[in-house]
Amino acid sequence: MGLLNLSLRNFRCFTAADLEFAPTFNLITGENASGKTSLIESIFLMGRGRSFRTANLESAVRAGTNGFQIVGRVSSQSTPIPIGLARENGHLEARIAGQTPATLAQLSETFPVQLVDNQAHEIIRGNPHRRRQFLDWGVFHVEPTFFPVWRRYQRVLRQRNTLLRNGNPQPEISSWDRELVSQGEALGAFRQEYLASLLPTATAWASQALGGLEISLEYRPGWPREQGFPDALKNAIERDRYAGMTQVGPHRAEMLIKVEGKPAQERVSRGQEKALVGALLLAQAAVYRARSGRPCTLLLDDLAAEFDSGHLTRFLDRVEECGAQTHITAIDPPSSITSRVAKAFHVKQDKITEMV
Ligand SMILES: Nc1ncnc2c1ncn2[C@@H]1O[C@H](COP(=O)(O)OP(=O)(O)OP(=O)(O)O)[C@@H](O)[C@H]1O
Ligand SMILES: [Mg+2]
Repeated sequence: MGLLNLSLRNFRCFTAADLEFAPTFNLITGENASGKTSLIESIFLMGRGRSFRTANLESAVRAGTNGFQIVGRVSSQSTPIPIGLARENGHLEARIAGQTPATLAQLSETFPVQLVDNQAHEIIRGNPHRRRQFLDWGVFHVEPTFFPVWRRYQRVLRQRNTLLRNGNPQPEISSWDRELVSQGEALGAFRQEYLASLLPTATAWASQALGGLEISLEYRPGWPREQGFPDALKNAIERDRYAGMTQVGPHRAEMLIKVEGKPAQERVSRGQEKALVGALLLAQAAVYRARSGRPCTLLLDDLAAEFDSGHLTRFLDRVEECGAQTHITAIDPPSSITSRVAKAFHVKQDKITEMV
């Protein structure tokens, strides 16, 4: 499983680039501003239908052109599946095996990718939304019924919030509660079940990455547990009406990450933060493989930054254990990276050359 080849047209600094990847370990080197992250970004886009750099994909269109195309083939159990993305006239179109997918979520099903970059710290330092995103990536990939429930919950929540904002009477608002509770409790149960399955690998790997410190992950459902969601919703109605939005529910859930019993952000150094988050993301990749039987593709942008040689080697050993196709970028890769490479590419002045 992985990306067999990739063609870019007018994507960021690249006018035209065509690459064939190894199924194992691919290295992309180049100086600052040569296009390494752009290459990783294009692969991420194929798997997620969005960028990790910008919410506005117009900025990814090569300056002076009208749109970009990204095309590649993803290996599957049987025949390779072509995936194409094109941004023209201000919107993104996707094709999977020649068909337009019903939602961009189908890209994730076809080509699951996991990213570790210098923004990975956000999972610790960012707001709870980042940690919910982290959990939901995992649940989405192992639980096929999660996405429809998640979508239904979002839809009902939007309806309820509109009524709250418009100051509608309470009975009208509460008429949405039964559906909100039913979808919300299901969503919370999916997340908790997933976290329980992730926990053994995630805590063991994260602890080892931090030299044996004790790590814990704990799910808070978005309502006081002793009340339960239905009562919490009833009790919050006046606050909801005042705020013009629903204050309790899985959209307010949190995943607490603790190191030696303390919130991780208060306890670990910058490098440890990256090692911790990296271990959690790799644990997700390993659990995904164990539960689906398919590996996901790992994108490691500028991995060596902030890592000393010991942390980097331990991390790369874990990467190998995941058995996933890997794309790693580096300005000046140390031997712990080069010794594992199956295929290497060098980016210079927007041209990509395969190294032999
Ligand atoms: N829409 C665009 N059109 C043309 N060039 C762009 C566009 N967006 C970004 N660039 C340029 O692409 C180049 C490559 O950027 P990228 O972030 O991929 O570099 P990098 O190799 O990852 O650099 P670093 O080592 O500093 O992280 C930069 O010079 C950037 O200014
Ligand atoms: Mg970069």
